Order: sequence, then structure tokens, then C-alpha cells
Amino acid sequence: MSQDAQHTEQWRSTSAPAHVTRRAALQAAAGAMALAGASSTPSQAQQAQPAPTAARAPEQATIRLVVNGQPRTLSVDPRQSILDVLRESLNLTGTKKGCNAGACGACTVLLDGRRINSCLALAAMHDGAEITTIEGLAEGDKLHPLQQAFIDHEGFQCGYCTPGQIMSGVACIAEGHARSPEQIKAWMSGNICRCGAYAGIVEAITEVAKEGKL
Ligand code: FES
Ligand code: FES
Repeated sequence: MSQDAQHTEQWRSTSAPAHVTRRAALQAAAGAMALAGASSTPSQAQQAQPAPTAARAPEQATIRLVVNGQPRTLSVDPRQSILDVLRESLNLTGTKKGCNAGACGACTVLLDGRRINSCLALAAMHDGAEITTIEGLAEGDKLHPLQQAFIDHEGFQCGYCTPGQIMSGVACIAEGHARSPEQIKAWMSGNICRCGAYAGIVEAITEVAKEGKL
């Protein structure tokens, strides 16, 4: 046999086993991975996950409020809005929840004399505040002048927005923003009425503001 023939024979004799070995090695590796995956049971996989930390209830906050002239001491969840404290803790359900997002004005109350959307105010951040709700306007059986004016001018239909409209109207007049129908419309624009009772609302506020009934 020539030298070239000998080299060719050697290359064949060494490469053929190497080809078989590589394929076999790949197959063996794939099999091993499959076996490894199969041997990991769901429970083992779960054990490998970090254990979820248990959700802890937030600590309650103690706050003092004066609501419609009455001092109140309350234990509240720090996440509770004034709206939810009024409705759920104090059972003052005259203040309505509409959008719960500051867009409709149904939840308007007076906080230290200024109108706010109570759905957006955290009660725990207003320790010591004075709050007036629709329940705090009338004096016994005598309606507040703006409540009476809403009746006289048919400033409502279903009534759902009405507590917020009246609280906002009281503030609108007190702020000096009720000097004309146009001004009233602008400064009452945060209070939405689905029933469209706007004409009566503007008339009621105009009358009370003009006659200086507040
Ligand atoms: S419920 Fe507060 S603004 Fe709509
Ligand atoms: S009276 Fe119905 S939403 Fe205003």
C-alpha cells in the first residue's frame, strides 16, 4: 500500500468512529435532559420557587374628625377615602359614590369649608378636619335655602347627583363664583348630572346667590 493510501485509510479509520460517537453523544445528552426534566415533579418545581410572603393587613390609623358639627374618633384603614369612611363607618350615605375617581362630583363634601371630591381624599391624611355633608345642611326640619331652591326650580330628576350638586353649589356661592349663569356653569362644571337637570341647578344657585340667603 502507498503512503497516500495508508493516510486515507487512517483518516477513515479514525473519523468514522468519531462521527458515530458525536451523534451518540448528542442523542445521549438529549435523553439525559429529557430524563432530568421528567424527574422534576411539579411539587419540586414549586419548592424551587421562593415562597410568597403572606399579605399583611395595614395597621389602622386613629383619626379625629368633626362631622356635621359632631366630634368623631375613628379607627380607619389608611387606604380608606373620606367618602368610604362617611358611608361605611359613619353611615352617612347621603354623599354618593359615582365614578370613585374624581370625575363626577357626586361625592362632593366640604372639608374645612372647601369643596372636595371625597373619593380622592384619604381620611388618614385629614386628622382634625371639619367635614360638612348633605346631612349637615338642614336645621332640623328646615331645609337649607339651596336645598329648597333645588326643589323650587326642579334642579334634579333621579337625585343621585343632587347631594354633590348642592354641596358644590353652597361652596360656589361662598367662593363668590355665582355672579352669573355663565360663571355658575363654569364653576359647577366638576359636577355631572346624567339626567341633564342643569337649567334648574343654575336657576337654584342664581336665586340663592342673588338673594343672599346663605
Ligand atoms: S365619586 Fe368622587 S368624583 Fe365621582
Ligand atoms: S338628577 Fe339624576 S344624575 Fe342628576
